[in-house]
Amino acid sequence: MHSHQIRSTFFAFFRELDHLLIPPGSLIPDDEGMLLTGAGMVQFKPYFLGERVPPSSRLMSTQPCVRTVDIDNIGRTTRHATSFEMLGSFAFGSYFKPEAMEWALRLLTDGYRLERDRLWVTVFHDDAETYDLWRRLAVPTNRIQKLGLEDNFWSMGVPGPAGPNTEIFYDRGERFGPAGGPAVNKERYLELWNLVFMQVIRGSSDVDIVGELPTPCVDTGLGVDRLAMVLQGVDHVLDTDGARRLLPDLPDGPSLRIVTDHVRTALLLLRNGVRPGNEGRGHVLRRLLRRTIRHLRLLGVDGPILGELTGDPVVAQEEAQFGRTLQRGSRLLDKEMRRHGRVPGDVAFKLHDAHGFPIDLTIEIANETGVPVDLDGFHSLMTHHRQTSRHPHPSGRPTAWA
Ligand code: GLY
Repeated sequence: MHSHQIRSTFFAFFRELDHLLIPPGSLIPDDEGMLLTGAGMVQFKPYFLGERVPPSSRLMSTQPCVRTVDIDNIGRTTRHATSFEMLGSFAFGSYFKPEAMEWALRLLTDGYRLERDRLWVTVFHDDAETYDLWRRLAVPTNRIQKLGLEDNFWSMGVPGPAGPNTEIFYDRGERFGPAGGPAVNKERYLELWNLVFMQVIRGSSDVDIVGELPTPCVDTGLGVDRLAMVLQGVDHVLDTDGARRLLPDLPDGPSLRIVTDHVRTALLLLRNGVRPGNEGRGHVLRRLLRRTIRHLRLLGVDGPILGELTGDPVVAQEEAQFGRTLQRGSRLLDKEMRRHGRVPGDVAFKLHDAHGFPIDLTIEIANETGVPVDLDGFHSLMTHHRQTSRHPHPSGRPTAWA
């Protein structure tokens, strides 16, 4: 099934159930605390909080999302990507757990024709009601797993609506690892759909609950790319029809996957007006571009290429500047790693301070080489430098990488 059919099947199903289709929200959220939109519900936050009245008590959407928390997993797992599309159904007081769960199961099995026996679910350990509802929907108890806050409680990561969630996974089979369910193996058991039962207001953290929502709400997110992996029978999220294969002549492997993923996300950010910078969204973009440049060099692409791939002169400039930094810094880092069998703090500091070589990149390269970095030493030199320097960041020099 093509991605466009995945979308149209979802919308037809929820349209029948009176959900109103809303266009995607901006990738740049209104919410000051959030850098980038990472879920379908972000644009609906005021509806959950009761600050505004939604155009219907049942909505649906498809939302481009950027999440960089898993950036280190790109290329290492088959399922992570820094940008993806999320189909969502939302209810603001109009229905709750029983309907959301029954409909999700029905759409997956009848609409997308997934084998019921391959579906597993996780529920928040305290949420006996959801556990029971799955049982009543004939999900066998050996395929319902209870997990904690980390897995089965959802918030935007900033103050706002939150609640326990239940996730639906698809078993891709033993080729992807040992059995035991999503509690032990999220590569084999691929998370497809997250159903969040929004009930409370989160404060500064997920354990800081500061109030209750005016009415219990439903927020679900179904990953288009993940479902496409299953329905198109491909092993990797970047092999679905939604991902354009860049540079087909280069050897497949982690570096090419990182390049493909990061260029896709960088293009999304550029199209939304983000420019490379040292802070906030600009920094996210810069980090993606720099990682891309490094992995292109690892693939043997030495000349400038990113400007052409993105059609953006700012990216071309970034590539030219960072290309030089990367060459000089990598040479020095290699030499020092060979000499010491580790990266001393003063070397990491010198790379950062004198060569503009980001500390995260030093850590990444050291990890790949299997040598430790003296981060305590690095940070104490940084602190000392900040305290004694009147001009901590000479113009144009990148500050910290992360
Ligand atoms: N809002 C639910 C999710 O992003 O998974």
